[in-house]
Amino acid sequence: MEQNEDVVSEARSEAEGAQDSRSLYEVKMKYLGKAGKVTGLLKRMKEVPAEERPAFGKRINDLRVKLESHFAALEEKMKQKELARKLASERIDVTMPGKRREKGAEHPVTRVKNQLIDIFAGMGFEVFEGTEIESEYYNFTALNTPADHPARDMQDTFYVTDEFLLRTQTSAGQIRMMEKKSPPIKMLCPGRVFRSDDDATHSPMFHQMEGLVVDKGVTLCDLQGMLDEFARAMFSRSSKTRLRPSYFPFTEPSVEVDVSCAACGGKGCSLCKGTGWIEVLGAGMVNRRVLENCGVDPDEYTGFAFGMGIERIAMLKYGINNIKLLTENDVRFLKQFQE
Ligand code: PHE
Repeated sequence: MEQNEDVVSEARSEAEGAQDSRSLYEVKMKYLGKAGKVTGLLKRMKEVPAEERPAFGKRINDLRVKLESHFAALEEKMKQKELARKLASERIDVTMPGKRREKGAEHPVTRVKNQLIDIFAGMGFEVFEGTEIESEYYNFTALNTPADHPARDMQDTFYVTDEFLLRTQTSAGQIRMMEKKSPPIKMLCPGRVFRSDDDATHSPMFHQMEGLVVDKGVTLCDLQGMLDEFARAMFSRSSKTRLRPSYFPFTEPSVEVDVSCAACGGKGCSLCKGTGWIEVLGAGMVNRRVLENCGVDPDEYTGFAFGMGIERIAMLKYGINNIKLLTENDVRFLKQFQE
């Protein structure tokens, strides 16, 4: 009988020590399972004198019932404890601020380029992208700029070999397009260009947007009409353009195009240096020699072309005073152009 009591207290203290339901279950089986210690006590019945057996059996049974309810209570407590532990570990503080995901912004040059494409695509232009390495022929010769032509000095060129160079202007796209397709042509050619030039408003690499229209009866008025539309869409609904005579070997007549200053509305301010106008691009009627070079009959077709610096437009539009800001990729600067 004493042994029996020992088994009970042994079982209890072992059960108290169980850390989780699994080990508690193991303890339970150790005592109450088929091969358990309490069951083992019953097997010793035969050592007990016959008259004491019923009382002995009853004692062990009582003991088993007591232990069973003790385990049941412990199991319940353990379940509560484990649930509490689980809830604590999965706790979510709904009042914590959310994780912010940094949103990127379109680079101002990409933005202006896409806006330009939108504006001119609306007028029926298709986009053609040439290559950054061009031959001298496409970049100069076919554009009516032979080797000894003084206009080559206007653009300081990076040569790759005697024949190939980094294109100095997207105008090379004009030739490529006219060789590829016969009129009517309405082409937009965006891309990187390169010149050995470096100061606050010039960078050795920058972007241009070329435009070319070739068809029957195209005039300078068509050019100005389209550029007016461009200026209104890009700068302000009240923007106007002004053409001034200029010179490019591939256009005749050639013009420099000014847009009325959007900062002061044309009254004159520091941005436009008091003139009310800002120079934004070069343009003109395609020189008949260029048409001939591309196999287009200049007596049948006429055309106009324009070329603008995308950085320049971005600087004017967003009031950026140094072109280097556009290539330094300082996130604090670029972030300002978010929607
Ligand atoms: N290619 C000229 C430049 O880079 C711009 C231009 C393009 C002028 C088309 C007239 C016509 O300065």
